[in-house]
Amino acid sequence: MSRIIAPSLLSCDFANLQNEIEMLNTSQADWLHLDIMDGVFVPNLTFGMPIVSFIRKHALKPLDVHLMIVQPERYISDFKKAGADILTVHYEACTHLHRTIQAIKSEEMKAGVSLNPHTPVSVLEDIITELDLVLIMSVNPGFGGQSFIENTFKKVKQLKELIARSGSQALIEVDGGVSDLNIDQLSKAGVDAFVAGNFIFKSSNPKQTISDLKNINR
Ligand code: DX5
Ligand code: ZN
Repeated sequence: MSRIIAPSLLSCDFANLQNEIEMLNTSQADWLHLDIMDGVFVPNLTFGMPIVSFIRKHALKPLDVHLMIVQPERYISDFKKAGADILTVHYEACTHLHRTIQAIKSEEMKAGVSLNPHTPVSVLEDIITELDLVLIMSVNPGFGGQSFIENTFKKVKQLKELIARSGSQALIEVDGGVSDLNIDQLSKAGVDAFVAGNFIFKSSNPKQTISDLKNINR
């Protein structure tokens, strides 16, 4: 399977949001990654359902929505209505994770769980077969442009083993500090999907950068 590239709109030019989406529509991006932050689960605020709906109206690709919010179960149907295709909640934010995952799936979205850098992969042992995606945070969530945490490689390896052992179909996605320096090594370690914000949107030619990330081998 070829790499899935999911540009994170957190780093795009929000004053030109429609242009940014149209650029992504004609790029090799596979998904659009949308970071929803509540200022409680993470020390930052971003945007909510109205912006997701606007993006949905213009985007031709699946919306990969990453909820960095407490009690995400309160908003599952709202994000479905806004147009989310994949809805990822944080393990650390869900007391009743199994119920939350079932609720996402019953809304006919793909269900993902994200792990903060300090949360071990082993906590997913009893839920892995229910998941469509596991999002490993390779930075502490809250901000774009941070440095990649090298321990992520160990977690990807452990997650790959857990997926193989359990027969789960979950995809592995990595989020934070992804660049041309680590994407090939991460692919080889078993990562399927890559979120990249700063590396794409702060480059001089984002469309070319997406193509580079999709194809680079080194
Ligand atoms: C961080 C977000 C990321 C962020 C990644 O909390 O979840 O999706 O946009 O940005 P970069 O690629 O700049 O590290
Ligand atoms: Zn994210």
